[in-house]
Amino acid sequence: MIVEPAARVEGHIGVPGDKSISHRAALIGALGDGSTRITRFGRSGDTESTLAAVRALGAAVEDEDVDTVTVHGAGLRGLRPAQVDCGNAGTLARLLTGMLAFQQGRFELAGDESLSRRPMTRVVEPLARMGAHLETSDGHLPLVVEGRELEAIEYELPVASAQVKSAVLLAGLGAHGTTTVVEPVPTRDHTELMLEAAGARVVRRPGSVSVEPAERLRLPDVVVPGDISSAAPFLVAAALLPGSTLTVHDVGLNPRRTGILDVLERMGARVGVLNKRRVAGELLGDVEVSAQPLVATRVEAPEVPRLVDELPLVALLGAFARGTTEVTGAEELRGKESDRIETVTDALRAIGVRISATADGFSVRGTPSRPRGGTILSAGDHRVAMLAAVAGLVSREGVRIEGAECASISFPGFYDLLDSVSHR
Ligand code: S3P
Repeated sequence: MIVEPAARVEGHIGVPGDKSISHRAALIGALGDGSTRITRFGRSGDTESTLAAVRALGAAVEDEDVDTVTVHGAGLRGLRPAQVDCGNAGTLARLLTGMLAFQQGRFELAGDESLSRRPMTRVVEPLARMGAHLETSDGHLPLVVEGRELEAIEYELPVASAQVKSAVLLAGLGAHGTTTVVEPVPTRDHTELMLEAAGARVVRRPGSVSVEPAERLRLPDVVVPGDISSAAPFLVAAALLPGSTLTVHDVGLNPRRTGILDVLERMGARVGVLNKRRVAGELLGDVEVSAQPLVATRVEAPEVPRLVDELPLVALLGAFARGTTEVTGAEELRGKESDRIETVTDALRAIGVRISATADGFSVRGTPSRPRGGTILSAGDHRVAMLAAVAGLVSREGVRIEGAECASISFPGFYDLLDSVSHR
């Protein structure tokens, strides 16, 4: 894939439904009694893995059209033993492990090469404390879960991870007593919101969330907002190319996900949010970004979970901003689909950006001129591939992306949509 330089981007677009919410709707729907119709389901490599998983576990899934699916729940304790291929999807592997811990029978979870390198101990450790029976391959997938009676725990997250929080809360549905997760830094709360909508007793306090054991769940129909993480490459392109104005409609604006909008504003881009409204418990609206001269910024640990998947794009913003942009407290990036501190640094260096990696982030020197361009390796990581495409638009000579096809893990159709808003 070659992405040629653009003069500006312009237009009105929509992006696929939020991946985090789509995974959760399919998974929690599968635990429900009755059916859940999911509109604007974010179809992608990862969410197809989730649909295949819930099917294998005994929940029927009807495909109505491209982005509408109906999940017929198997019931809270009704999943049937199966071998599940989680593909590339970390959210699926972590959340499912929690849900399976109290089911009856033996379940095997496997994943692709990248997912099999990612840590599972972070969910195994709290679940084992609840009494779950789990066997990993040296802390990784493949993993075997044998259902057990669980006891509630109070668990303080050692890493700011919504996936770990969600796994413990989902296991808590089938445990004796009140399960509490304490989180030092707020992470995305889509699981809590959806469990509440499904009738679970969830108590939220500043810094912690508790769930009571449930008899049954019933997840009402879900309308998924557009994925702010998929909107971000377009918003960043609009912020970087002078003369650009771009609007992404119906984007999820859950405050625990909107860190990228704050960073864009802080750096000087013009950001407008219109038609803000709440649909099925989640905020959404239209986001408009226009280019302005940018200044450097700092992103530190407390802000990281609010934009964790957008940090690669923050590095590119930094390359154009006056001053040095620094990201710290983001060591979690090393455990994503690739080691994103290294792959992002390598990618941007390869095209002439002055960026260096640190133990827990990176530091980027901004320059007034466009980076030269060149070849970027995706390392099989969808977020790196999409970063490379935006880098191509804002470069002088364009970017050749090796391994571009992995963008479909979260966003099939990404390159065509990017091309459709690019003016050369
Ligand atoms: C996700 C949480 C984040 C994020 C991932 C999706 C989720 O991971 O990076 O893309 O849906 O809960 P962690 O919770 O491990 O930080």
